[in-house]
Amino acid sequence: MAATKIPEVVLGSSNGHRTMPVLGFGTAANNLEPEVLIAAVLDAIKLGYRHFDTASIYTSEQTLGEAVAEAIKLGLIASRDQVFITSKLWCNDAHPDLVISTLKKSLQNLQMEYLDLYLIHWHISATPGKLVYPLSEEYLLPLDLKGVWAAMEEAQRLGLTKSIGVSNFSTKKTENLLSFATIPPSVNQVEMSPFWQQKKLRDFCKANGIVVTAYSPLGAMGTNWGTSHVLESKVLQEIAEARGKSVAQVCIRWILQVGATLAVKSYNKERLKQNLQVFDWELSQEDLDKISQIPQRKMMRSEELISANGPYKSLEDFWDGEI
Ligand code: A2P
Repeated sequence: MAATKIPEVVLGSSNGHRTMPVLGFGTAANNLEPEVLIAAVLDAIKLGYRHFDTASIYTSEQTLGEAVAEAIKLGLIASRDQVFITSKLWCNDAHPDLVISTLKKSLQNLQMEYLDLYLIHWHISATPGKLVYPLSEEYLLPLDLKGVWAAMEEAQRLGLTKSIGVSNFSTKKTENLLSFATIPPSVNQVEMSPFWQQKKLRDFCKANGIVVTAYSPLGAMGTNWGTSHVLESKVLQEIAEARGKSVAQVCIRWILQVGATLAVKSYNKERLKQNLQVFDWELSQEDLDKISQIPQRKMMRSEELISANGPYKSLEDFWDGEI
Protein backbone atom coordinates (compact mmCIF):
# COMPACT_ATOMS: atom_id res chain seq x y z
CA MET A 1 0.00 0.00 0.00
CA ALA A 2 1.37 3.44 -0.95
CA ALA A 3 1.85 5.85 1.96
CA THR A 4 -0.94 8.40 2.41
CA LYS A 5 0.02 12.02 1.73
CA ILE A 6 -1.46 13.87 4.70
CA PRO A 7 -2.53 17.44 3.83
CA GLU A 8 -0.75 20.29 5.61
CA VAL A 9 -1.94 23.57 7.11
CA VAL A 10 0.04 26.83 7.08
CA LEU A 11 1.03 28.05 10.55
CA GLY A 12 1.17 31.75 9.72
CA SER A 13 3.50 34.49 8.61
CA SER A 14 5.26 34.90 11.97
CA ASN A 15 6.34 31.29 11.55
CA GLY A 16 7.71 31.82 8.03
CA HIS A 17 4.56 30.20 6.58
CA ARG A 18 5.64 26.81 7.88
CA THR A 19 3.25 23.95 7.43
CA MET A 20 2.01 21.22 9.77
CA PRO A 21 0.40 17.92 8.74
CA VAL A 22 -3.29 18.15 9.73
CA LEU A 23 -3.31 14.69 11.28
CA GLY A 24 -0.72 13.80 13.89
CA PHE A 25 0.25 10.82 16.02
CA GLY A 26 -0.22 11.34 19.79
CA THR A 27 2.05 9.80 22.42
CA ALA A 28 0.22 10.71 25.66
CA ALA A 29 -0.51 7.17 26.79
CA ASN A 30 -0.26 5.55 30.21
CA ASN A 31 2.34 2.83 30.65
CA LEU A 32 3.28 2.66 27.01
CA GLU A 33 6.25 0.30 26.60
CA PRO A 34 9.09 1.95 24.62
CA GLU A 35 9.30 -0.95 22.16
CA VAL A 36 5.54 -0.68 21.46
CA LEU A 37 5.87 3.06 20.77
CA ILE A 38 8.94 2.57 18.56
CA ALA A 39 7.19 -0.11 16.49
CA ALA A 40 4.06 2.04 16.18
CA VAL A 41 6.04 5.13 15.09
CA LEU A 42 7.85 3.07 12.45
CA ASP A 43 4.52 1.66 11.20
CA ALA A 44 3.05 5.15 11.24
CA ILE A 45 5.92 6.59 9.19
CA LYS A 46 5.56 3.76 6.67
CA LEU A 47 1.85 4.58 6.38
CA GLY A 48 2.46 8.32 5.87
CA TYR A 49 2.25 9.92 9.34
CA ARG A 50 4.75 12.76 9.63
CA HIS A 51 3.49 14.76 12.64
CA PHE A 52 4.34 13.42 16.11
CA ASP A 53 3.06 14.97 19.31
CA THR A 54 4.89 14.61 22.62
CA ALA A 55 5.47 16.56 25.86
CA SER A 56 8.02 16.46 28.65
CA ILE A 57 5.34 15.16 31.03
CA TYR A 58 4.48 12.21 28.75
CA THR A 59 8.04 10.80 29.12
CA SER A 60 7.81 9.76 25.47
CA GLU A 61 10.31 12.27 24.05
CA GLN A 62 13.32 9.98 24.25
CA THR A 63 11.56 7.00 22.72
CA LEU A 64 10.04 9.12 19.97
CA GLY A 65 13.52 10.47 19.19
CA GLU A 66 14.90 6.93 19.03
CA ALA A 67 12.07 5.90 16.71
CA VAL A 68 12.71 8.82 14.34
CA ALA A 69 16.46 8.03 14.33
CA GLU A 70 15.63 4.40 13.53
CA ALA A 71 13.29 5.51 10.71
CA ILE A 72 16.16 7.54 9.20
CA LYS A 73 18.54 4.57 9.59
CA LEU A 74 16.03 2.29 7.86
CA GLY A 75 15.62 4.80 5.02
CA LEU A 76 11.89 5.35 5.73
CA ILE A 77 12.61 9.08 5.78
CA ALA A 78 15.73 10.84 4.53
CA SER A 79 16.25 13.17 7.48
CA ARG A 80 14.75 14.69 10.64
CA ASP A 81 13.30 17.60 8.68
CA GLN A 82 10.79 15.26 7.06
CA VAL A 83 8.88 14.95 10.33
CA PHE A 84 7.02 17.57 12.35
CA ILE A 85 7.66 17.30 16.09
CA THR A 86 5.59 19.05 18.78
CA SER A 87 6.54 19.11 22.45
CA LYS A 88 5.17 20.99 25.47
CA LEU A 89 6.39 22.95 28.47
CA TRP A 90 5.09 21.34 31.68
CA CYS A 91 3.77 23.49 34.56
CA ASN A 92 6.76 22.93 36.88
CA ASP A 93 8.97 24.44 34.15
CA ALA A 94 6.54 27.23 33.21
CA HIS A 95 8.73 30.04 34.59
CA PRO A 96 10.39 32.68 32.37
CA ASP A 97 13.95 31.71 33.32
CA LEU A 98 13.35 27.97 32.80
CA VAL A 99 11.77 27.93 29.34
CA ILE A 100 14.94 27.84 27.23
CA SER A 101 16.79 25.30 29.37
CA THR A 102 13.67 23.10 29.52
CA LEU A 103 13.26 23.22 25.75
CA LYS A 104 16.93 22.27 25.38
CA LYS A 105 16.30 19.30 27.69
CA SER A 106 13.43 18.19 25.43
CA LEU A 107 15.77 18.48 22.43
CA GLN A 108 18.35 16.41 24.24
CA ASN A 109 15.71 13.74 24.98
CA LEU A 110 14.66 13.74 21.34
CA GLN A 111 18.27 13.90 20.06
CA MET A 112 17.19 16.74 17.77
CA GLU A 113 18.43 20.25 17.09
CA TYR A 114 15.04 21.92 16.89
CA LEU A 115 11.34 21.37 17.53
CA ASP A 116 8.73 22.24 14.95
CA LEU A 117 6.29 23.43 17.58
CA TYR A 118 6.61 24.14 21.30
CA LEU A 119 3.46 24.69 23.39
CA ILE A 120 2.77 25.99 26.89
CA HIS A 121 0.99 22.89 28.21
CA TRP A 122 -1.44 24.59 30.67
CA HIS A 123 -2.35 28.09 31.77
CA ILE A 124 -0.95 27.46 35.25
CA SER A 125 2.49 27.14 36.78
CA ALA A 126 3.85 24.93 39.55
CA THR A 127 6.79 24.79 41.92
CA PRO A 128 9.98 24.28 39.91
CA GLY A 129 11.76 20.96 40.29
CA LYS A 130 10.54 17.45 39.62
CA LEU A 131 7.71 17.24 37.07
CA VAL A 132 4.48 16.35 38.85
CA TYR A 133 1.35 14.77 37.30
CA PRO A 134 -1.35 15.07 38.32
CA LEU A 135 -0.60 18.35 40.02
CA SER A 136 -2.02 18.94 43.46
CA GLU A 137 -2.74 21.94 45.62
CA GLU A 138 0.67 22.32 47.23
CA TYR A 139 2.43 22.86 43.88
CA LEU A 140 0.08 25.30 42.13
CA LEU A 141 1.30 28.79 41.19
CA PRO A 142 -0.02 31.53 38.92
CA LEU A 143 1.48 31.55 35.44
CA ASP A 144 3.56 34.60 34.50
CA LEU A 145 2.20 34.44 30.97
CA LYS A 146 3.96 37.61 29.76
CA GLY A 147 7.35 36.41 31.00
CA VAL A 148 6.90 32.82 29.84
CA TRP A 149 5.63 33.91 26.42
CA ALA A 150 8.59 36.29 25.97
CA ALA A 151 10.88 33.30 26.63
CA MET A 152 8.90 31.19 24.14
CA GLU A 153 9.38 33.96 21.55
CA GLU A 154 13.09 33.99 22.33
CA ALA A 155 13.20 30.21 21.83
CA GLN A 156 11.70 30.68 18.36
CA ARG A 157 14.15 33.49 17.54
CA LEU A 158 17.05 31.28 18.61
CA GLY A 159 15.82 28.56 16.24
CA LEU A 160 15.22 26.05 19.05
CA THR A 161 11.67 25.73 17.77
CA LYS A 162 10.19 26.76 14.43
CA SER A 163 6.82 27.76 15.90
CA ILE A 164 5.27 28.38 19.30
CA GLY A 165 1.79 28.02 20.70
CA VAL A 166 -0.38 27.08 23.65
CA SER A 167 -2.51 24.22 24.90
CA ASN A 168 -5.67 24.14 27.00
CA PHE A 169 -6.17 27.91 26.65
CA SER A 170 -9.75 29.22 26.77
CA THR A 171 -10.90 31.88 24.30
CA LYS A 172 -10.38 34.60 26.92
CA LYS A 173 -6.88 33.42 27.82
CA THR A 174 -5.93 33.19 24.13
CA GLU A 175 -7.31 36.69 23.56
CA ASN A 176 -5.27 38.00 26.49
CA LEU A 177 -2.10 36.42 25.04
CA LEU A 178 -2.77 38.06 21.67
CA SER A 179 -3.05 41.46 23.37
CA PHE A 180 0.70 41.53 24.11
CA ALA A 181 2.38 38.80 22.04
CA THR A 182 5.01 39.96 19.56
CA ILE A 183 4.87 36.54 17.92
CA PRO A 184 1.26 35.35 18.11
CA PRO A 185 0.65 31.69 19.02
CA SER A 186 0.37 29.56 15.89
CA VAL A 187 -1.57 26.72 17.54
CA ASN A 188 -3.91 26.14 20.48
CA GLN A 189 -4.11 22.40 21.25
CA VAL A 190 -7.25 21.57 23.20
CA GLU A 191 -9.67 18.77 24.03
CA MET A 192 -11.96 18.45 21.05
CA SER A 193 -14.29 15.72 19.82
CA PRO A 194 -17.95 15.54 18.78
CA PHE A 195 -18.64 15.56 22.53
CA TRP A 196 -16.65 18.76 23.16
CA GLN A 197 -16.89 20.75 19.97
CA GLN A 198 -15.16 24.00 21.01
CA LYS A 199 -17.26 26.12 18.63
CA LYS A 200 -16.53 29.43 20.37
CA LEU A 201 -12.79 28.81 20.61
CA ARG A 202 -12.62 27.57 17.02
CA ASP A 203 -14.38 30.67 15.71
CA PHE A 204 -12.07 32.93 17.71
CA CYS A 205 -8.92 31.09 16.61
CA LYS A 206 -10.01 31.09 12.97
CA ALA A 207 -10.60 34.84 13.07
CA ASN A 208 -7.11 35.32 14.54
CA GLY A 209 -5.11 32.94 12.35
CA ILE A 210 -4.53 30.36 15.09
CA VAL A 211 -4.74 26.68 14.16
CA VAL A 212 -6.75 24.54 16.58
CA THR A 213 -5.42 21.04 17.20
CA ALA A 214 -7.76 18.52 18.83
CA TYR A 215 -6.41 16.17 21.45
CA SER A 216 -8.31 13.09 22.62
CA PRO A 217 -10.47 13.24 19.45
CA LEU A 218 -11.79 9.73 20.13
CA GLY A 219 -12.24 10.14 23.89
CA ALA A 220 -8.77 8.87 24.89
CA MET A 221 -9.90 5.38 25.94
CA GLY A 222 -7.17 3.57 27.82
CA THR A 223 -5.83 6.67 29.58
CA ASN A 224 -6.72 7.70 33.12
CA TRP A 225 -8.71 10.69 31.77
CA GLY A 226 -10.44 8.82 28.95
CA THR A 227 -14.11 8.02 28.31
CA SER A 228 -16.00 5.52 26.16
CA HIS A 229 -18.85 7.88 25.32
CA VAL A 230 -17.27 9.06 22.04
CA LEU A 231 -16.63 5.65 20.46
CA GLU A 232 -19.95 4.28 21.86
CA SER A 233 -22.10 7.19 20.71
CA LYS A 234 -25.34 6.04 19.02
CA VAL A 235 -25.45 9.13 16.77
CA LEU A 236 -21.88 8.57 15.60
CA GLN A 237 -22.50 4.83 15.17
CA GLU A 238 -25.51 5.51 12.91
CA ILE A 239 -23.56 7.95 10.76
CA ALA A 240 -20.63 5.53 10.57
CA GLU A 241 -22.87 2.64 9.52
CA ALA A 242 -24.64 4.66 6.86
CA ARG A 243 -21.29 5.75 5.37
CA GLY A 244 -19.55 2.38 5.70
CA LYS A 245 -16.93 3.97 7.99
CA SER A 246 -15.89 3.47 11.61
CA VAL A 247 -16.88 5.82 14.45
CA ALA A 248 -13.20 6.80 14.75
CA GLN A 249 -13.12 7.79 11.08
CA VAL A 250 -16.31 9.83 11.51
CA CYS A 251 -14.75 11.69 14.46
CA ILE A 252 -11.53 12.39 12.56
CA ARG A 253 -13.36 13.46 9.42
CA TRP A 254 -15.65 15.76 11.47
CA ILE A 255 -12.62 17.50 13.03
CA LEU A 256 -11.03 18.06 9.63
CA GLN A 257 -14.28 19.23 8.05
CA VAL A 258 -14.90 21.86 10.73
CA GLY A 259 -11.44 23.23 10.00
CA ALA A 260 -9.36 21.89 12.89
CA THR A 261 -6.34 19.56 12.96
CA LEU A 262 -5.75 16.67 15.37
CA ALA A 263 -3.39 14.33 17.17
CA VAL A 264 -4.95 10.89 17.41
CA LYS A 265 -3.53 7.98 19.39
CA SER A 266 -3.25 4.41 18.24
CA TYR A 267 -0.44 1.93 18.57
CA ASN A 268 -2.10 -0.68 16.38
CA LYS A 269 -1.11 -0.89 12.70
CA GLU A 270 -4.61 -1.61 11.39
CA ARG A 271 -6.14 1.30 13.31
CA LEU A 272 -3.26 3.59 12.36
CA LYS A 273 -4.09 2.73 8.75
CA GLN A 274 -7.84 3.12 9.27
CA ASN A 275 -7.40 6.55 10.85
CA LEU A 276 -5.63 7.79 7.70
CA GLN A 277 -8.52 6.78 5.43
CA VAL A 278 -10.34 10.07 5.93
CA PHE A 279 -9.22 12.21 3.01
CA ASP A 280 -11.26 10.87 0.09
CA TRP A 281 -14.84 11.10 1.40
CA GLU A 282 -17.00 13.65 3.20
CA LEU A 283 -19.65 13.91 5.87
CA SER A 284 -22.84 15.43 4.49
CA GLN A 285 -24.40 18.62 5.84
CA GLU A 286 -27.03 16.39 7.43
CA ASP A 287 -24.31 14.40 9.23
CA LEU A 288 -22.69 17.64 10.42
CA ASP A 289 -26.05 18.91 11.67
CA LYS A 290 -26.65 15.68 13.61
CA ILE A 291 -23.20 15.90 15.19
CA SER A 292 -23.78 19.53 16.15
CA GLN A 293 -26.80 18.39 18.19
CA ILE A 294 -24.77 16.00 20.39
CA PRO A 295 -25.09 17.10 24.04
CA GLN A 296 -21.72 18.47 25.16
CA ARG A 297 -19.69 16.80 27.95
CA LYS A 298 -16.20 18.02 28.75
CA MET A 299 -13.96 15.11 29.65
CA MET A 300 -10.76 16.87 30.79
CA ARG A 301 -12.10 19.15 33.50
CA SER A 302 -8.88 19.39 35.56
CA GLU A 303 -10.54 19.71 38.97
CA GLU A 304 -7.13 19.09 40.57
CA LEU A 305 -5.98 22.52 39.37
CA ILE A 306 -8.67 24.29 41.38
CA SER A 307 -7.90 25.23 44.96
CA ALA A 308 -9.00 27.79 47.53
CA ASN A 309 -5.36 28.89 47.93
CA GLY A 310 -4.25 28.41 44.33
CA PRO A 311 -4.42 30.74 41.32
CA TYR A 312 -7.84 29.36 40.27
CA LYS A 313 -10.65 29.12 42.81
CA SER A 314 -13.25 27.58 40.50
CA LEU A 315 -13.56 25.62 37.25
CA GLU A 316 -15.57 28.54 35.88
CA ASP A 317 -12.55 30.74 36.48
CA PHE A 318 -10.05 28.25 35.07
CA TRP A 319 -11.98 27.63 31.83
CA ASP A 320 -13.52 31.13 31.65
CA GLY A 321 -16.97 29.59 31.41
CA GLU A 322 -16.00 27.10 28.67
CA ILE A 323 -16.86 24.09 30.80
P1 A2P B 1 -5.49 1.51 20.13
O1 A2P B 1 -4.15 2.08 20.48
O2 A2P B 1 -5.65 0.10 20.63
O3 A2P B 1 -5.82 1.66 18.67
P2 A2P B 1 -7.62 9.45 21.50
O4 A2P B 1 -6.94 9.60 20.19
O5 A2P B 1 -8.91 10.17 21.64
O6 A2P B 1 -6.71 9.74 22.64
O7 A2P B 1 -8.03 7.90 21.65
C1 A2P B 1 -7.08 6.88 21.76
C2 A2P B 1 -7.77 5.56 21.98
O8 A2P B 1 -8.60 5.25 20.87
C3 A2P B 1 -6.81 4.43 22.12
O9 A2P B 1 -7.30 3.58 23.14
C4 A2P B 1 -6.84 3.70 20.78
O10 A2P B 1 -6.61 2.34 20.96
C5 A2P B 1 -8.24 3.96 20.33
N1 A2P B 1 -8.36 4.02 18.87
C6 A2P B 1 -7.57 4.70 18.02
N2 A2P B 1 -7.99 4.54 16.76
C7 A2P B 1 -9.08 3.74 16.82
C8 A2P B 1 -9.97 3.23 15.86
N3 A2P B 1 -9.81 3.49 14.57
N4 A2P B 1 -10.99 2.45 16.29
C9 A2P B 1 -11.17 2.17 17.61
N5 A2P B 1 -10.35 2.64 18.57
C10 A2P B 1 -9.32 3.42 18.18
